[in-house]
Amino acid sequence: GGVGKTTVAKYVFTTNFRRFEGSSFLANIQDISQQPDGLIRLQKQLLYDLTGKKSKIQDTDEGIIKIRDAICFKRVLVILDDIDQQEQIHAIIGMKNWFCPGSKIIITTKNSCLLKVQEIQKVHEVREMGNDESLELFSWHSFGEDHPADDYMELSKRVVKHCGGLPLALQVLGTSLRGKNIDVWKSALDKLEAIPASQVIKKLKFGYDSLKDDHDKNLFLDIACF
Ligand SMILES: Nc1ncnc2c1ncn2[C@@H]1O[C@H](COP(=O)(O)OP(=O)(O)OP(=O)(O)O)[C@@H](O)[C@H]1O
Ligand SMILES: [Mg+2]
Repeated sequence: GGVGKTTVAKYVFTTNFRRFEGSSFLANIQDISQQPDGLIRLQKQLLYDLTGKKSKIQDTDEGIIKIRDAICFKRVLVILDDIDQQEQIHAIIGMKNWFCPGSKIIITTKNSCLLKVQEIQKVHEVREMGNDESLELFSWHSFGEDHPADDYMELSKRVVKHCGGLPLALQVLGTSLRGKNIDVWKSALDKLEAIPASQVIKKLKFGYDSLKDDHDKNLFLDIACF
């Protein structure tokens, strides 16, 4: 988690949706589909995005029929963000061959095994950031610039080492340390370096959703280092 899949998908969506006759970005499917009537809510959103009308849907089968009618004559761009089960794809959008030629369906998932079906035409792996890019992103969050302040260069490099090239980790650690004095940085680093980097990243993967607001982000160092 936190490598940037949703960010890439959103970028692709916002830069391309105008070229289609209809478009929909369904975010956080893993979370929403676990809620009561979650799949139906996703179908309703998809229908609303594509038709501009609110639809009544009793169950997912009825939803699929309505979706089929909405997609079969329009070129659409549909993004399914964060799928965690194969069934979700069919439950939300039905069959691939219902889509009008020229339509695009983009799926993001943490689990690449889900993409090993023949219907998937192209797989793109979102990779971790390299060292330079990591330091730059970290600096934007901690200093508001593309490089660390002079006195903080070595300390910044040490923090970045612990982020495993994950934008989420760079962002969370960067914002936590922003405006803090050297002593705070050093003690945070002592804590960080006392535990394996892999564990910090694991905590982030696990705790991503709970880290979305600033308060939690500021608490991250404590969480990661308890
Ligand atoms: N290329 C990037 N440049 C700057 N910030 C980025 C970049 N990619 C991701 N981020 C930031 O990192 C955080 C996590 O990114 P994102 O939500 O896209 O990850 P994800 O792979 O979808 O995670 P998850 O698997 O938990 O859904 C976000 O706050 C996002 O703004
Ligand atoms: Mg995501």
